[in-house]
Amino acid sequence: MVQLPITPMQPWFRTLRELQSPFSWNDVFESSPDAPIELDIGAGRGLFLLNAALRHPKRNILGVEIDYREGRRAAERLKKRELANARVIGGDACILLADLIPPGSVSAVHVYFPDPWWKPRHHKRRLFDQEFCDLLARVLHSGGEVHHWTDVADYFEMVRAALDPHPRFTSLPAPTEREPEHDMDYQTSFERKKRKMGFPIFRAIWKRD
Ligand SMILES: C[S@@+](CC[C@H](N)C(=O)[O-])C[C@H]1O[C@@H](n2cnc3c(N)ncnc32)[C@H](O)[C@@H]1O
Repeated sequence: MVQLPITPMQPWFRTLRELQSPFSWNDVFESSPDAPIELDIGAGRGLFLLNAALRHPKRNILGVEIDYREGRRAAERLKKRELANARVIGGDACILLADLIPPGSVSAVHVYFPDPWWKPRHHKRRLFDQEFCDLLARVLHSGGEVHHWTDVADYFEMVRAALDPHPRFTSLPAPTEREPEHDMDYQTSFERKKRKMGFPIFRAIWKRD
C-alpha cells in the first residue's frame, strides 16, 4: 500500500483514502478501540462531536464530513484539546457505512440537520433514503440507536416514513427541548442557528432491533 504523507491534522482528521486498508477501528481509535463507537454523520463544524467526546470520555465518537474544510475545522477543535476519543473522517458517509465499517460495530448514529435540498426535484439528493436507512441497520448493533434532528418538517416526515415501519427499527420517545446554559450548549451549530431564528426543531430516536 502507498504511504501518504502524515499531515499535521492526523490523527484527528483523515480522508477515507488515508485510512488503513482493511478498515479497522483499532486504526481510528488507537488508544481505546473496544469502547462503544458512535458516528456523527455530516459533522459540520463539530460542536456535537466536541461536546459528546468531552461529556462521554469512555465512548469513541467519529465525525464523518464530506466537506474537508468543515471536517478539518471540526478536527481542529478536537486537536486543541488533545482528545483521544474523537476523530473526523473526510469523505462520503455512505461509502464508510456500506463498504468499510464492520456490520454491527456501532452503538449510535447521529444525523443532525442534514442538507435539506429544498427543491422537490433535488429531494433525491437527500442523505436519508431507504438505502441509507438499510446502511444504518447494517452498522448498528442490536440495541444501537439512530438520533435525528432537523428543522425541516417535510424532511422529518420523510425520515419517519422510512424508519417507523422499517423492520429493523423501533421508535423511542423523542428527546424534549431544553434551554441552553451558554452559547456552546446546543446539540449542534445548526441547532443553535435555527433556534435563534425561532424555528421549531424536530427530534427523534430509533432503536435497532
Ligand atoms: C446542514 S449541515 C449540518 C452540520 C451539523 N450536523 C450541524 O447540525 O451543525 C450538513 C452537513 O452534512 C455534510 N454532508 C452532506 N452529505 C454528506 C455525506 N454524504 N457524507 C458526509 N457528510 C455529508 C455537509 O457537508 C454539511 O456539512
